[in-house]
Amino acid sequence: TVGLSKAMRQRGRSFIGTALTLRDDAQELAIVENKADFNSITPENAQKWESTEPTQGNFTFEDSDRYVDFATDHRYQIHCHNLVWHSQLPDWVVNGGFDNETLIEVMHDHIKALAGRYKGRCTRWDVVNEALEEDGTYRKSVWYNTIGEAFLPLAFKFASQVDPKAQLFYNDYNLEYNGAKTDGAQRIVKLIQSHGVKINGVGFRAHMTSEPTTSSGGGVTPSQQVLSAALRRMTSQDVDVAYTEIDVRMNLPATQKKLNVQAKVYQRIAASCLAVERCIGMTIWGVSDKYSWIPAVFDGEGAANLWDEDFKKKPAYAGFLRGI
Ligand code: XIL
Repeated sequence: TVGLSKAMRQRGRSFIGTALTLRDDAQELAIVENKADFNSITPENAQKWESTEPTQGNFTFEDSDRYVDFATDHRYQIHCHNLVWHSQLPDWVVNGGFDNETLIEVMHDHIKALAGRYKGRCTRWDVVNEALEEDGTYRKSVWYNTIGEAFLPLAFKFASQVDPKAQLFYNDYNLEYNGAKTDGAQRIVKLIQSHGVKINGVGFRAHMTSEPTTSSGGGVTPSQQVLSAALRRMTSQDVDVAYTEIDVRMNLPATQKKLNVQAKVYQRIAASCLAVERCIGMTIWGVSDKYSWIPAVFDGEGAANLWDEDFKKKPAYAGFLRGI
């Protein structure tokens, strides 16, 4: 059989990836290592600030190193994740009382150390993650509150200086609906470009649902046309796009009928990428429902991935492949 990443590359696109947590599970690993399905990984947590600089200037790279080495050993791409985010950010940054100038230094030091360590090895970097509120205004994070919107071009400038070869991405969720938040992301791309700073792409998370759920406010995944239109909003600004964290959750328990609906949603997500020339790839947020982050965060929801808890391919796998 063709496999996901093989199909994607046959279509002239760059990658199919999975979020990865290295743990003692041979079944999961065998799927990740199957090159016909995957040729890219995103470290699920290992590179986040709390994992890599838990106290100021104390860099802990052992765990992160394992993922970058994994990618090298397997000749996979690696979507490095992430440099600047308000979440999984240690208290010393959030409540450190830094002023504008000092917080810029804190950010610069972190980017120099983390992106510098993997210079030339990260295919892509999520430079800034989740800078927007749902209405398209800036999220009131410590970064925005202290530095203002300048934190965005600054972060991208620092990253491009430290690792000039990495493709630099802005990454966010709920950009797929082509609404106010999509406007905001487009504004961010323009802002960075207006400073003469490099930005290569926008990552659309694509944490979606296959039926109305409480957490989605009753919404479902939009049509393929809406999805493609949102992607094109970004590519019209001369950047690439990618789906960076796809999963399609539902209200539990899953039934055969729901799994078939989910397969169609996966198909149209894939097709919406393939319909846009500069949609370079797609990453799914994990392999199996067994380890998905969804049930812990969205109460009563789950079954969001392509393999079930027993590592059997769900209808969603075939659906996703059909969309490619
Ligand atoms: C999630 C991980 O999957 C969980 O293991 C962790 O507990 C919380 O973070 N958007 C992101 C990812 O950019 O980093 C998040 O990952 C999922 C939402």
